[in-house]
Amino acid sequence: MFNPKIPFNELPPLPPDADLETKPVMRKLIKASRALSELNGALTNLPNPNLFLDTIHLQEAKSSSEIENIITTNDDLYRDIIADKKVGAPAVKEVLRYKQALWLGLERIENRPFISTNLCIEIVQCIKQNSSGIRVTPGTVLADSTGNVLYTPPAGEMVIRNKMSELELFINETDNLDPLIKMALLHYQFEAIHPFADGNGRTGRILLLLYLKLSGLLQIPAIYLSDYIIRNKLSYYELLRGVTERQEWQPYVLYMLDMVEVIAQRSLVRIHAVSALMDTISERIKKQVPLAYSKELVEILFRLPYTKRQVLSDAGLGTLKTVGNYLAQLEQAGILTSEKLGKEKFYINKALMDFLAKPN
Ligand SMILES: Nc1ncnc2c1ncn2[C@@H]1O[C@H](COP(=O)(O)OP(=O)(O)O)[C@@H](O)[C@H]1O
Ligand SMILES: [Mg+2]
Repeated sequence: MFNPKIPFNELPPLPPDADLETKPVMRKLIKASRALSELNGALTNLPNPNLFLDTIHLQEAKSSSEIENIITTNDDLYRDIIADKKVGAPAVKEVLRYKQALWLGLERIENRPFISTNLCIEIVQCIKQNSSGIRVTPGTVLADSTGNVLYTPPAGEMVIRNKMSELELFINETDNLDPLIKMALLHYQFEAIHPFADGNGRTGRILLLLYLKLSGLLQIPAIYLSDYIIRNKLSYYELLRGVTERQEWQPYVLYMLDMVEVIAQRSLVRIHAVSALMDTISERIKKQVPLAYSKELVEILFRLPYTKRQVLSDAGLGTLKTVGNYLAQLEQAGILTSEKLGKEKFYINKALMDFLAKPN
């Protein structure tokens, strides 16, 4: 009998001893794969596909952290990224580190296409900005808001390490499982092992993006999966428990596939919308502030919604004085708004900020 208060050292290795390829799963799998492949196609066809990565990954970092009650606002986040003097609250720093951790992971798998325990450790250390490693002391439990223990992950460093090596083998071996199903399985397993004292949720969600890239399903991992989880958070927790307590894989796998489908579709719509917004702003700049116009300028305004003179000047758009004039004129034309913080002046692409705040 499963006892939530006893370390779950019996957590079975993957793949589960269950029929995963049921009719409902296969039907959902087709839809999710199709949506993802459309997104992949649209992204690879963009003239500058990496342009939106910063923003998308910051939105992902913000939502994934929010699932863990680390709450920030877009303004605080984007301001802090470009500010010389970082005044951000601890939560802002943590979200920015999440994005760094994601990028570190992406860079690692670029060089070595392999998800390992050590990579997970590197990622969690980057998020937590400390030297955390595999849990060595007992006492890690998952509890509800009233302190009621719902799950006690495996305990004992060797037990955890062994389960992580089994997981590592499962992730990287070739088999007949569909990669999207595999992604769902590995996420559950990682969360159930819960190898770290903290940061497991966030590391596990970074692995989702890394796996999408590794498996070739999404060449440019411009996707914002945590948006789905934050909107369907209770089910996420309940479904994870359903797997542990009742081996209910199907509803959990369906949830993960639905996440891929919904988010891929939404991302596709949003990529087109933001590209259209970029065209509109380009035209406005050409018309209203022709001297300031360049393709590079527009790209900077859309790479991140906050900018400043130094950024433009570093990008080779002119001296600080020249680009300062551009920015002032863009503000006069109503294309940018500005904000002062101490000695620094930031310029904000309000249309992009509004777009990011839109729920869909
Ligand atoms: N019953 C459960 N079984 C396994 N994992 C769970 C369960 N409930 C929640 N989780 C996972 O644990 C994460 C929280 O773990 P934690 O180490 O605090 O992560 P973080 O520091 O990123 O907040 C959740 O986001 C979820 O992924
Ligand atoms: Mg936590």
